[in-house]
Amino acid sequence: MAKMWAGRFSKEVDETVNAFNSSISFDGRMYPQDIRGSIAHATMLGDCGIIPKEDAEKIINGLKEILADIDSGTLLMDPTAEDIHMFVEAELTKRIGDAGKRLHTARSRNDQVALDVRLILRDEIAEIRKLLHALLRTLVKIAEEHTDTIMPGYTHLQRAQPVTLAHHILAYVWMLLRDDGRLCDTAKRMNYCPLGAGALAGTTYPINRQQTASLLDFTAPVPNSLDAVSDRDFCVELANALSLLMVHLSRFSEEIIMWCSWEFKFIELDDAYATGSSIMPQKKNPDVTELIRGKTGRVIGDLTTLLSMLKGLPLAYNKDMQEDKEAIFDAIDQAKLCIKTFDPMLATMRVNKDRMRAAAAQGFINATDCADYLVKKGLPFRDAYKITGSLVAKCIAEGLTLETLPLSSYQAECPTFGEDVYEAIALETCLNGRISEGGPSAAAVRVQLDAAKAAIEELKA
Ligand code: ARG
Repeated sequence: MAKMWAGRFSKEVDETVNAFNSSISFDGRMYPQDIRGSIAHATMLGDCGIIPKEDAEKIINGLKEILADIDSGTLLMDPTAEDIHMFVEAELTKRIGDAGKRLHTARSRNDQVALDVRLILRDEIAEIRKLLHALLRTLVKIAEEHTDTIMPGYTHLQRAQPVTLAHHILAYVWMLLRDDGRLCDTAKRMNYCPLGAGALAGTTYPINRQQTASLLDFTAPVPNSLDAVSDRDFCVELANALSLLMVHLSRFSEEIIMWCSWEFKFIELDDAYATGSSIMPQKKNPDVTELIRGKTGRVIGDLTTLLSMLKGLPLAYNKDMQEDKEAIFDAIDQAKLCIKTFDPMLATMRVNKDRMRAAAAQGFINATDCADYLVKKGLPFRDAYKITGSLVAKCIAEGLTLETLPLSSYQAECPTFGEDVYEAIALETCLNGRISEGGPSAAAVRVQLDAAKAAIEELKA
């Protein structure tokens, strides 16, 4: 494709440089946003009398036709074009002649690309949030079905105290709700319009930046023309929000991977969301979750790419910034794929309540409650802790649990123990005694569930 800036040059650009320089293979996906931005710009140019009204109209109609033709596949992108901006403008001029050449008045590709990226990220955030909200609803549904599914809570991956699957799942609900909040904040902060910043120093034409900002649904124009074209903090913020979201999905995935193992067998994935081995006929592998864990590293890499790209750049635009798109689009695409797959995988998994309960019944998960029993009878916590520690050691030596240890052994260690200790250390008692706000008892989880549901209900797409 002939270069629009060819005037100053006496030679064609080297073919390798051309291919090296071209971004259309990855910025082509911004064509709807590029065209939408150009329509707003042309409208403003016409209204301000910077170009003739008839030309503005021709431009707008031409752009609408180009949009429809790309949408329908009748117009294919020229892979030799420098970028999407050049491609659309050249196609417009090819179609409508001289009027097309007026579109770029009072504009630079620098404010144009800064606009397009903001527009597409705004759209993508809305889509990611929709997927995330669906996932949140799935999680709440699972939680609601498992308020009495007792499982071990862990620290250091050692059985620690009893919780329920509902409580465990709700922990992720809150994390994902904060992720949604971060996406929302990012969208709000990036919603300022860079159009009119020109290459870096505005323009001498009497443009109306308020008009283009409001035509494109922005809160206001970016207040500083240098800032408008030279920062990509909004890409970094989004990549950061997505990295954290992925980290949450990855931690959950790691647990799913463990829970499907023969050692745990807490859950069984639906056959549609697991894969087999090419050699071992018995295998059913949780590939989806492993890929999510793997892709998390990739998204964190995208964030690092963006931060490293920016850190040494003098104001204003530098071509390094063209590298923003592949990184942020990759982060978006991977996150979307992961949420889309994770959601139905969770919705279809089967929970093995008995295995969860059996795991909670072992491992002295009620030892804290045994100590608390003595505290409630008047002993200082540290003494109660020590006595219970000795009882646990005795159980281990004799192959018993606190539930099966005879009362005489309890009393040998501390005469305060009575028959009621067995009731105090029963799993249900240990669980439902944890009534503190935010705790795992059925009553506390009910309050939590209602709060989570209300928070999800309030989310605006
Ligand atoms: N393709 C370029 C990018 O993505 C568009 C902006 C080009 N601006 C320039 N002055 N060369 O950043």
